[in-house]
Amino acid sequence: MCGIIGYTGKKEALPILLNGLNRLAYRGYDSAGVALEQDKCLVSVRSKGKVSELERELAGTEFHSQRGIGHTRWATHGLPSERNAHPHMDCTKRTALVHNGIIENYLSLREELENQGHVFSSDTDSEVLAHLLEGPGPPLNRLLKAVTRLQGSFACSVLFQEEPGTLYGVRMASPLLIGMGEGEKFLASDIPAILEYTRQVVFLEDGEVVRLSAESLDIFDFAGNRREGHTPYTVPWDMVRAEKGGFKHFMAKEIFEEPTIFEDTLAGRVNPLHGMVMFEELNNWTPNWERVCIIACGTAAHAGMLGKHFIERIARLPVEVEYASEFRYRKPLVDERTLVIAVSQSGETADTLSATTLARKHRSPVLAVCNVMGSSLERLADRVLFTRAGPEIGVASTKAFLAQVAVFLLLALFLAEKKQEENTEERRKIIQELLSIPRLLRDLLSDSPKIHELARQYYQFHHFLYLGRGLYHPLALEGALKLKEISYIHAEGLCAGEMKHGTIALVEPDVASMVLVGKGENRTKTLGNLEEIRARQGKVLALTTSGDRDVQSLSHHCIEVPDVHEILTPFTAIIPLQLFAYHVAVEKGCDVDQPRNLAKSVTVE
Ligand code: AGP
Repeated sequence: MCGIIGYTGKKEALPILLNGLNRLAYRGYDSAGVALEQDKCLVSVRSKGKVSELERELAGTEFHSQRGIGHTRWATHGLPSERNAHPHMDCTKRTALVHNGIIENYLSLREELENQGHVFSSDTDSEVLAHLLEGPGPPLNRLLKAVTRLQGSFACSVLFQEEPGTLYGVRMASPLLIGMGEGEKFLASDIPAILEYTRQVVFLEDGEVVRLSAESLDIFDFAGNRREGHTPYTVPWDMVRAEKGGFKHFMAKEIFEEPTIFEDTLAGRVNPLHGMVMFEELNNWTPNWERVCIIACGTAAHAGMLGKHFIERIARLPVEVEYASEFRYRKPLVDERTLVIAVSQSGETADTLSATTLARKHRSPVLAVCNVMGSSLERLADRVLFTRAGPEIGVASTKAFLAQVAVFLLLALFLAEKKQEENTEERRKIIQELLSIPRLLRDLLSDSPKIHELARQYYQFHHFLYLGRGLYHPLALEGALKLKEISYIHAEGLCAGEMKHGTIALVEPDVASMVLVGKGENRTKTLGNLEEIRARQGKVLALTTSGDRDVQSLSHHCIEVPDVHEILTPFTAIIPLQLFAYHVAVEKGCDVDQPRNLAKSVTVE
């Protein structure tokens, strides 16, 4: 997830670009850059680090330009660095572009372009587009020809030296909007970048190209046909609301980003035709490990517990999951035949880093599952599988968790392939069904008002039990953690089978239970738990597969999720659990994005 801004008009472009980039820093901030039209040439300045680093680089320069583009990067391909920062240029330095998204076929395009003599200067997927755009010919034709060769997601803003005053935009599966100013035009990946200059915006649709000048706007489809009828939208928000995408909190915005995050995390890693998973990051790396040990903290540990279920069931490898804070103080029985997987959204959690260091001392190969390129964990690990969740601002982890779980499922499928496990047909079915998940998540998100209504009936409870079996046990732990960390309600997650071993003593009318009713045998057994709780006047809120009449009859309230392959149930169940915690916290008037006593990354013990 990166930030894009472009400007063409009568004002000095550079201050507008830098101001916009600062407003987009929440979209990514590991490097930044601008390109400007100066004396009929294109000049580019880039820097590693936050936008303030770029501003330091630019201090003292004398730019006078009315056209330019800018970018803040959240790395997905290629480490955070000046050479990987955008804008990227072609060999002749006559084309400059900034990109947000993932060009899935960039490796084959890069090979083709290098064979034609193009010289690349970065490790990014984005740079292939700069070289595809290289002249000669009318810029619009070159742009239309280039974008039809791309697979994946791309929002771009492009400058061509041969078209002074003109700014191009392209949209495919990544947001891009046009700001309509008086005698000026803007391009941006999100509203905050331009809100102080105009409230009139036009949202580009997927498959569209726009050509802008101070006074003109032309939109085309990728075949070059003109597109008409885009009516400007007047933005009603103030800046604070705009940075949250119109949501009241970053947490809500990030929950609603999850379908896109799921698509981004899978992009370029799944081949449904052949039922295969590809991890570029694991090329030429197949150590002969015999078992797996997952180390993590908090929500990341819950993702690891789901990873255990996936890897054991699909890849038939024994997996243990350890809280990093425990692992680091034990004499762990791991060695070169144990693959240690360290999971961390931030890549800076002290316990996880120390546990990883200890694993390395035991000569274990370390694979990180991490959301931040350039993080300490990335530098410690042998290999890294990046979640592509973009910056997660809310302290409560939501979209990063979903992305971690997605990576673990892909890893399980990948390992099964490597081990030539017999379950090829089931793996192919899972991969096929994966593609339907984003739509199902969007449907579940549209039920947010119903979940809010439920939250209104439960937010005054002081005690919550979250129960689940199998895949729903880690989800019970995660649902309880979400509720307690942002609403301060005491919530305990446990496996439902443990109820009768003690916890059921807590059940009484003012204790609410969120019972996650799985499928198959787990469903039958969990129905028993439901009845046990009801028999003791406990309040029961059940989450179950749509149309399950038994559960509905046994519960006070019911959350229904679509019927999917059992291995995919965590993806659909987690959405209502996150929404429920969010709405309860809002009803309680809690500081949802920055709950008391908590930090986004626990970098101390
Ligand atoms: C989860 O909502 C919390 N923010 C917390 O449990 C978090 O998951 C944990 O501190 C691990 O953080 P990490 O993923 O950055 O390592």
